Formats: sequence, structure tokens, C-alpha cells
Amino acid sequence: MSEINWAQCHTRPVLMIPGPTELPFPVVQAMNRPPAIQYDRSFDEGVLDPTVLALRDVFQTRGEVILMPGSGRTALEAGALSVIEPGDRVLTIVAGVFGSLMREIMARVGAEVTEFPVEWGARLDVPRLTAEAQRVRPKAITLVHNETSTGTTYPAAEVGRVARDVGALFMLDTVSSLAGIDVRTDEWGVDLNMTGSQKCLAAPLGLALVAVSDRAWQAMESRRRKATSWAYDLLRWKEHWIPVSRGGAIPDGAPRRQPVSMPTHLTEAMRVAVDLIRQEGLAHRFRRHAIAGGALRAGLEAMGLEMFPDQTLWSNTVSCVKAPKDVDPSAVVTAMRDRYGILIGTGLDRIRTSTLRIGTMGITSSPLYILPTLGALELALRDLGSKCEPGAGVAAAQAAFAERG
Ligand SMILES: Cc1ncc(COP(=O)(O)O)c(C=O)c1O
Repeated sequence: MSEINWAQCHTRPVLMIPGPTELPFPVVQAMNRPPAIQYDRSFDEGVLDPTVLALRDVFQTRGEVILMPGSGRTALEAGALSVIEPGDRVLTIVAGVFGSLMREIMARVGAEVTEFPVEWGARLDVPRLTAEAQRVRPKAITLVHNETSTGTTYPAAEVGRVARDVGALFMLDTVSSLAGIDVRTDEWGVDLNMTGSQKCLAAPLGLALVAVSDRAWQAMESRRRKATSWAYDLLRWKEHWIPVSRGGAIPDGAPRRQPVSMPTHLTEAMRVAVDLIRQEGLAHRFRRHAIAGGALRAGLEAMGLEMFPDQTLWSNTVSCVKAPKDVDPSAVVTAMRDRYGILIGTGLDRIRTSTLRIGTMGITSSPLYILPTLGALELALRDLGSKCEPGAGVAAAQAAFAERG
């Protein structure tokens, strides 16, 4: 008899990749509606503005949050092209694939980039970074808070202090951390906090988000030349959207103009996603991700697997684990998806053939998703001939949930 395909009855795999993530049902429902007119005041005042104001809580900022069509990369590029002019010096910390992405984006906007390389999965040497920042005297320092390619969380508060000490803007990629790991925009002195909708915010893919500090606005206003993009120059939002009482140019109560037409369905979904985050409360949400990330790691280790990065950097939203020596990670991903209906990721780039990555973001940071994922991983590894005691990973994760949750 042929083997049973357990995924046959599912219409889609459960997303345990590091984004996009599973969506709460009310977020899915929010998109099930006829089109709204994006330039209608009822949308601006009834949906978009309340959403960006509510997002301030999630970003932990008193400044403006800009929502735009796009993704994490749009947010990074909009941040970069808005404040950086050709020839500006930028110090870019590169500890993985997304650090390299930031370096590329900066190079494209004409920055004179100095890379601060960090071995993948290894700690950031803050004293050495401080010395480099004092030598380079950059206009901006960039960091990927949670390096999704290696499953690491870097000390953003410390890097913020380094930036402040040399008078540099602090540009932080929080694509895989915001709303899952504590991100304190104002307290850490983040000038541009750039993220996307589809990870820990648990909203659909399609929106870029940037929180902008006063210093970042000043940097935009004191440019020698206008930014070369119209739609993605963040300054347009100050000129066309933000009211005078919030530091913008639009008289309070007057109609505003979105510099780029907003996707109304996605904005509605984001509004609900943010409501859910506020209802849960940030402290509970961060603790939930911490316990869930810990339980997943306990399960992986009980299966005899080893985490890729340094233990002090383990991320609670993305786990990057070494595959067993004799097993091809892409075969594990295929087996888990095709036979058990759960999608995880391989590593990226130079660790693609040696690691696996599992996301625990938004609603997937829960026993409901983590225990079946470990169970399916055990089955898939056994299918591929790897020795693995059935239930060991699930039992360890269950125990971790029982102990801390
Ligand atoms: C840390 C980080 N930065 C940037 C990106 C790019 O974001 P997007 O795919 O939304 O453009 C990702 C995507 O995984 C990411 O994890």
C-alpha cells in the first residue's frame, strides 16, 4: 500500500516560515468588502489616520508612523532615499542576508558605505563598533534588529547609543521583530524604524511602515537636493498628509492627500491587526513570543538538533537550526509541506544547505502551531532516514509551555 499523504486534505500549508505568517481570522475578514475610495475623507479620517495613530503604541513612539504600499524592502528603501544623499557616509552593520540588503540599498542611493561585518550568528562587538563609528563619523548607522537569515536578535539599544554619541542617525530594520520582540523606538533613539506588515504584526503582505523621528525629519528638510523618488520620499507625507498640530504642513481639519494611493483593503486589515495587538497588550505579546520561541528551541534540542547562532542572540521570532548532517534541508521542507501540510524554511544563502528556519510570529507563537510543527518535523526527519525518537521534541516543548506559560 502507498504511504498516506496527511496533507492531502488541507487546502494550503500552515505557514511556519519566518513570514508571511498566519493571519488572525478577523484580519482576513477585514479584507472581505467592496472597494473603498482611497482619497475619500471617510477613508483618510476613519481608517488610515486611526491606524497610523494606533501604530504609535506598537512602535513605542510619540512620532509619526508612515504607512505605505509595499513591503519591508520598500520601508528600507524609502528610509534610505529620504535621508541619505549621494556621498553621505553610512556605517552598515552586516551580520547576514538582510544586513547585506541594507548595504545594497544604501549603495544604490549613493551613500559612501562602510561595512561593519559581523560573523554570521556571532555577537556584535560594540566597543569595536564604537571605535569604527568614531573613525568614520557617519551620517547614519544601520542595524538589522532581528537578522532573519540567522535567527539572531542584536542589541539595538546599544547601537542606538553608539549612533547618538557620534551624532549619526540610527536606522533600524525591525522587519522580523516589531510586535514580536520589544522594540523601543523613542527610548533607543531610533530615527527611522522600518518594517513590513506580514511578520509579527500578523497583517497581510503589502504594506511598508516607517516610524520617523524629529531628527530624521530635520535631515530630510535640510537636504542639499530633493530625493530622486516622488512616491517614496517620506517628506511628501509631511507636506501632504500630516496636520500642522503634529508638525506637518496641512491645516488641522483640512483634507489631506496621500502621496501614494493607499491599498484600502490592506489598510483595513492593518487596522484590525493593530487593534488585536493593543487588546493583547505589548507586554503579554512579547512574553508570549519569548515563551513560544523558548519552547520551540527546547523541542529542537530534545530532537538532537543544534541551534545555528550564538546562544546569547537566539531570536524569539525566528529559529535557525542546523539540519542533521546527512539530511538536505530542502528535502525536509518538501516533506513537511507535502506530507504533513506545514511549511518551514531552509536557511538562506551560504547556510541554505545546512540549516532550517522556523518562524514563531504573531498567532503562530502558540502551542497550537508549535507542537504540530515539531511533530511534523520529527516525522519528516524519520521519513528521510534520520534517527529521531518519536515525540521527544514535542514532549520537551510541551514541558516548556507547561513550565513557563
Ligand atoms: C530582517 C528583514 N529585512 C528585510 C526583509 C525584506 O522584507 P520584504 O520581504 O517584506 O520586502 C526581510 C524579509 O524577510 C527581513 O526579514
